[in-house]
Amino acid sequence: MTHIDDRPPAPDPLGGDPAPGRMAIIGGTGFHLEAGAGTLDVVGDEVITTRWGKARITRTELAGRELLFLDRHRAQTEPGAPRIPPHRVNYRANIAALKQVGVTGILASTAVGSLRAEWGLGSLVLLDQLLDHVDGRPRTFFDDTAVHVDFTRPYCDHLRRQVAGTAHALGIPFHDGGTYICTNGPRFESAAEIRAYGAWGAHVVGMTAVPEVALAREAEISYAGISVVTNPAAGTGEGDLTEEEVMEAMAAAMPQIARLFLEVAKGYRDDPSTPARRATREFGSPRVT
Ligand code: HPA
Repeated sequence: MTHIDDRPPAPDPLGGDPAPGRMAIIGGTGFHLEAGAGTLDVVGDEVITTRWGKARITRTELAGRELLFLDRHRAQTEPGAPRIPPHRVNYRANIAALKQVGVTGILASTAVGSLRAEWGLGSLVLLDQLLDHVDGRPRTFFDDTAVHVDFTRPYCDHLRRQVAGTAHALGIPFHDGGTYICTNGPRFESAAEIRAYGAWGAHVVGMTAVPEVALAREAEISYAGISVVTNPAAGTGEGDLTEEEVMEAMAAAMPQIARLFLEVAKGYRDDPSTPARRATREFGSPRVT
């Protein structure tokens, strides 16, 4: 297996001085820590209290480096409790907790339906764009002061390049770029909605990227999102959508995505000068924790 650590860091056109940083993985539907068994030492769980609520993170050690893990659907519940649906996740507590413990980069997985026939089950998509079609979710840390972060490129290019380089080195196929549309859920979409989203430019559809991606930007954390195609989007495949097929497809893709994430985490280099890590500078970097 090729380790990205063996190679010199890729030159970064955005400049800056790459430095080791602290990485967290946000696991979504069907993502579980056990997939890293053998390479990952679990140190323990910790509940972090933030201004926005509590979130549980798991501290692990990977190749002598700390790696944090947060299960987006379980960070606000007791172990063993039912998963929190996408519209009830406390995204602000989750991102603020990661910020509080010094996280500089996030790798996040999401399960998605595919609007492209050629992106079949189990395909990995390294996202580069986002359409926000949710309502009713608190979506900023800055309710009392006008802070407008740049969101032209919602995902951090510096981190995307590390993911892409690692996937190439490991021989893991992926689609480099894709537009995610986030819907409110918890229901799946109608066929007509999917046709409309396709016309808007969406490639995949899911329920959890919003407001997580924007909150990470407000918290000046680099964020890369990798989607796993778990089903054809509504009306584009045969038959109806079921939660079961989503879970099954995610479980099948799990070993590969876990291998990719852990390898990226091993070689992760922060670059504090990238746009994502300086997003609120002009506003005086107000507190989010
Ligand atoms: N729609 C919305 N969210 C999803 C889907 C989908 O088809 N598949 C997995 N998460």
